[in-house]
Amino acid sequence: MPSTRISNTQIATACGEMLLFVVVGYYALKFIVNALDPTNKQKTEAKKLAEKLMKSIGVKDIELNDYEMVIAANLIDPLSMSVAWDCIGGLSDVVREMKDNVVLPFKKKEMFSKSVLLSPPKGILLYGPPGCGKTLIAKATAKEADCRFLNLDISSLTDKWYGESQKLANAVFSLAYKIQPCIIFIDEIDSFLRSRSSSDHEATAMMKAQFMSLWDGLSSNPKSNIIIMGATNRPNDVDRAILRRMPCRFYVAMPNKEQRLEILRIILNGEKVDVNVDFEELAEMTKGCSGSDINEFCRLAALNCIRSVTENTKQTTWCDATEEPSLGPISMSDFLESFGRMQNSHAQLAAHGLFD
Ligand SMILES: Nc1ncnc2c1ncn2[C@@H]1O[C@H](COP(=O)(O)OP(=O)(O)O)[C@@H](O)[C@H]1O
Ligand SMILES: [Mg+2]
Repeated sequence: MPSTRISNTQIATACGEMLLFVVVGYYALKFIVNALDPTNKQKTEAKKLAEKLMKSIGVKDIELNDYEMVIAANLIDPLSMSVAWDCIGGLSDVVREMKDNVVLPFKKKEMFSKSVLLSPPKGILLYGPPGCGKTLIAKATAKEADCRFLNLDISSLTDKWYGESQKLANAVFSLAYKIQPCIIFIDEIDSFLRSRSSSDHEATAMMKAQFMSLWDGLSSNPKSNIIIMGATNRPNDVDRAILRRMPCRFYVAMPNKEQRLEILRIILNGEKVDVNVDFEELAEMTKGCSGSDINEFCRLAALNCIRSVTENTKQTTWCDATEEPSLGPISMSDFLESFGRMQNSHAQLAAHGLFD
């Protein structure tokens, strides 16, 4: 009768085969998921971009891990930014605060190191209605402060693998330490660090908690030369714990008549404008408009100027023309027409319940 006993060698071989099968299966599955995942291509591109950016901002001889590379793709080269203080109209108070609170500590480090009280704030919040210049101020600050500027895109912190987002959050701070002095800017901070609720996904809640604890580490480290700057239209939606970490807050309000006049002058600077255009009247006309509304108002007026030429030449649009249009200056009637169009579009939005 043949023996049915299984030898130890056979058991070991079977176990080995099973283990090999599991390992090969795991990597094969991971390879397939990665190959099908479009975000992997984005990651490789982000890495290439990060390497280029690091070179252009003059960061050399610093070893970055994969997570820091992904975050480094958010770095901004100050030389590539065209926004300076003089591009911002009517916000001289906030600009002055930004100069004293952010630019000065970076530029005159020795002066600020003499007093604990003078150490720069670790968190700054710009809040106020949309389109009034918050992002503009942040960009100008980055340019003038002459430090590294990490414009943190929150989508770069999300990853499908459990725990990866936390590692990316960690990388934001470790990268900032490596390349300091650095400003970490989070636009629309309410969408990322909004009031936590029980319905939050566990991974998101953990990432937020991690972010806050790293932020605390920043505040307690006297050697850190990092400032976190946030901007929001909805300060009430920002987590209270985050507001507490941003003690330095500036309200960027809707512009009044004088401020609108300044914004108009900046936007129309360098454009061909008719000498009879009354800027005071334009400022009056744009009552209740934000800076971005004023920008649109001027853009429409400039477009009207082109349209009036097409009407004179019986052409429907310059798209079909072969010769260059000869444009006159933007006239008061162009602005009046633009005003009428803006009012129409507001009325349409209101009719659809989208505007009040
Ligand atoms: N104070 C301002 N001075 C000059 N332009 C402004 C001002 N505020 C807004 N704008 C115009 O509106 C656009 C949007 O402004 P932005 O800073 O993005 O507003 P938000 O407050 O929503 O961040 C700017 O690119 C700029 O053209
Ligand atoms: Mg903005």
